[in-house]
Amino acid sequence: MQRALAIAPSILAADFARFGEEVRAIDSSGADWVHVDVMDGHFVPNISFGPQVVRAIRPHTKKVLDVHLMIAPADPYLAEFAAAGADIITVHAEAGPHLHRSLQAIRALGKKAGVSLNPATPESAIDYVLDLVDLVLVMSVNPGFGGQAFIPSALDKVARIKAMIGDRPIDLEVDGGVTADNAGALAKAGANALVAGSAVFKGGESAYADNIAAIRSAAERARGELV
Ligand code: DX5
Ligand code: ZN
Repeated sequence: MQRALAIAPSILAADFARFGEEVRAIDSSGADWVHVDVMDGHFVPNISFGPQVVRAIRPHTKKVLDVHLMIAPADPYLAEFAAAGADIITVHAEAGPHLHRSLQAIRALGKKAGVSLNPATPESAIDYVLDLVDLVLVMSVNPGFGGQAFIPSALDKVARIKAMIGDRPIDLEVDGGVTADNAGALAKAGANALVAGSAVFKGGESAYADNIAAIRSAAERARGELV
């Protein structure tokens, strides 16, 4: 039984001056999750937004808020993101020496715990935390910016992690340079959650539904759900 497919538009590519409308627009255009990229200018070379933005967008959608923390340290902020309305909180394996503790802390807050791996980080980094996670996020670009080119080695990493996960109830997500052109290969390799920024927000609001549908149908075809 494969895990449900989730298309997760990243609001990093949205119009920051109109977050509420943008979130409502992707919600009504077929997004399954809303992906929220939090950057601190320290762990990654860019600054985006923090828990107040999560709190502000929360009333605009009932969909899963998938919060990707590109911050170090992460632990001091987990409770704030949980209280702000995050459903999934993902920390980076590279963000601190105590990944196990961070994941335990997220679950103790009643949220789904995710772990993310940068392109250079081997999958063995999560060998000993697989029973503590609800989601593994494979970065297919170096985190920090939207609109970068997909790094092809991520496909192999997804396949390896899929095998490591076995039958555990863990979502396998990919983030960075995801488009309708590579969504099929990613789904075939085992990813069931696809983050997309530029590929969803390109062309303005009237294009969001078609953009999401194009990614979804490429993935569904690869999953054998579309004939
Ligand atoms: C990169 C972020 C991504 C990014 C994806 O650091 O984690 O979520 O917004 O954007 P695209 O889809 O444009 O590569
Ligand atoms: Zn992200």
